Amino acid sequence: MITAQNIHKYYDDLHVLNNVNLSIKKGEIVSIVGASGAGKTTLLQILGTLDFATKNKKSSLKINDIEIYNLSKNELAAFRNKHIGFIFQFHQLLPEFTALENICIPAFINKTEKAAAEKRALELLEFLGLSHRKNHKPSELSGGEQQRVAVARALINNPEVILADEPSGNLDSESAENLHQLFFKLREEFGQTFVIVTHNKELANMADRKLTMVDGTIGS
Ligand SMILES: Nc1ncnc2c1ncn2[C@@H]1O[C@H](COP(=O)(O)OP(=O)(O)OP(=O)(O)O)[C@@H](O)[C@H]1O
Ligand SMILES: [Mg+2]
Repeated sequence: MITAQNIHKYYDDLHVLNNVNLSIKKGEIVSIVGASGAGKTTLLQILGTLDFATKNKKSSLKINDIEIYNLSKNELAAFRNKHIGFIFQFHQLLPEFTALENICIPAFINKTEKAAAEKRALELLEFLGLSHRKNHKPSELSGGEQQRVAVARALINNPEVILADEPSGNLDSESAENLHQLFFKLREEFGQTFVIVTHNKELANMADRKLTMVDGTIGS
């Protein structure tokens, strides 16, 4: 599902990613752990095509068997919106919009009709136990509810891959645990592939595979 080879990233002289190679199977849940500054977010952003590896002849990033570095800018934006869902530490919902509207935004970008997008968003809200909060704005929701809305937003286009950066870093332990259970339920239900960067030991150990980053390199 995801194959990354010879990934390097430099910020000036700082070698943030040093020859990262990884291969993640469809339906696999992989956690990435490591000290602050090890390069976890940088790697996740590159896997998500939000950022680019420093150019290198040997670098390759394939998602769904598509070589990302061969896509044009527009093709890449469309690919990202359709195939990859993002969950961030801070939910990054738009404050002016309701839960339902926030969830629909990636579908609208994908040119899904309003009725179809809303139908799918309502199904997701139901699945996440949030139907009764659909017309509330983010400021009127609890942290755990906001994060579940962000999960629904990540899922609306049925992406094959979900990338999460510290998804529960901002939640109390009960909400965090519920969110972690939810990832596994989603995998069971929809067969998605997850890459989760986390400092949460429990979540990291629940994954099928735990990768440890040290100074820009993935050990074991
Ligand atoms: N835009 C940037 N310009 C320069 N240096 C950067 C930039 N973004 C990140 N870095 C540096 O790259 C290194 C890796 O950062 P990254 O955010 O990937 O770490 P991380 O493993 O996610 O850490 P944390 O656990 O604290 O989130 C750090 O030393 C950071 O300061
Ligand atoms: Mg980080």
